[in-house]
Amino acid sequence: MITKNIQYAVDELKRDGLVSIPTETVYGLAANAYNETTVKKIFELKNRPHYNPLIVHIKSADYLQHIAKEIPDIALKLATAFWPGPLTLVLKKQEHVSDFITAGKDTVAVRVPNHPLTLDLLNELDFPLAAPSANPFGSISPTNATHVHAYFGETLPVILDGGECEKGIESTIIGFENNQPILYRHGSISIEEIEKMVGKINTITHNDQTPNAPGMLSRHYAPKTETYLTNNVAALATYFEGKKIGLLVFKNPMHHHNIHHQEILSKTGDCAEAAKNLYAAMHRLDEQNLDVIIAERLPDEGLGKTINDKLERATKKE
Ligand code: TXA
Ligand code: MG
Repeated sequence: MITKNIQYAVDELKRDGLVSIPTETVYGLAANAYNETTVKKIFELKNRPHYNPLIVHIKSADYLQHIAKEIPDIALKLATAFWPGPLTLVLKKQEHVSDFITAGKDTVAVRVPNHPLTLDLLNELDFPLAAPSANPFGSISPTNATHVHAYFGETLPVILDGGECEKGIESTIIGFENNQPILYRHGSISIEEIEKMVGKINTITHNDQTPNAPGMLSRHYAPKTETYLTNNVAALATYFEGKKIGLLVFKNPMHHHNIHHQEILSKTGDCAEAAKNLYAAMHRLDEQNLDVIIAERLPDEGLGKTINDKLERATKKE
């Protein structure tokens, strides 16, 4: 059921069911973070490997101490600046936080989502919500309730409809080593914005073979259609002469007789608008029965960097 009424979500979560929740980034698939059996259901429904830990969504920064400990001052500074908002902090976990949430690590990922419906929901509950993005493992994240419904149908009893996600791209994830912040995942807050507050920060180089690295699997967010990323869309469109081509371009439409469907991320060249449109555009392209999708690389700065990172993962060949 798709509904705007949080009472259905409250009831379902209290019955230890799963609920899809809107956030400002993407839709989440939420369970009572204090109930292991329910948290396990998230992994089953998403077909998500157990080594990939979940984010705990809390109602306010004041609640953080119930989930995390030994919180570095810089983490508090970031939380104060960006919460509620699309920043996830990876911190030392409190003992009681389930190993299913953290994939056995001694750290836990936490954020306060910035969506009025979900904040109301969290305030009605006496437990936080463990939630990954509400998509089957490896597929494109959902940015509206219809996307979630298309993935899970009625096997998911409640999808809380909060409209189109305002940011459209996952939260930025920051962890800490020796109290120094490290970027674990590019996201809706650009690295430049974070550096303005805490100075230069390093980026973790991820590796699928290292379970200790955060779950930044190299292939992720992928459309089913074969997708290529390029600086030169025209050249690739010519190369694929005769194929049914879809385009995902930043701001300038391309005129080429081969193009069957075209998505322009932001006509004004605004990266925030492009981020908001990215996954919905990928969903639409994927529905067109195309032979190939050609995606254009964005300028590599600010949110352009985040979008390029998502596109790299959507296109990397195994
Ligand atoms: O915007 C978002 O963050 C959305 C909304 C629903 O909040 N959630 C989301 O969740 O993107 P998910 O599960 O798709 O991505 C969570 C990421 C994974 O890459 C996971 O590996 C990482 O967070 N993560 C979780 N716990 C971690 C930990 N203890 N250490 C390192 N990485 C962690
Ligand atoms: Mg995800």
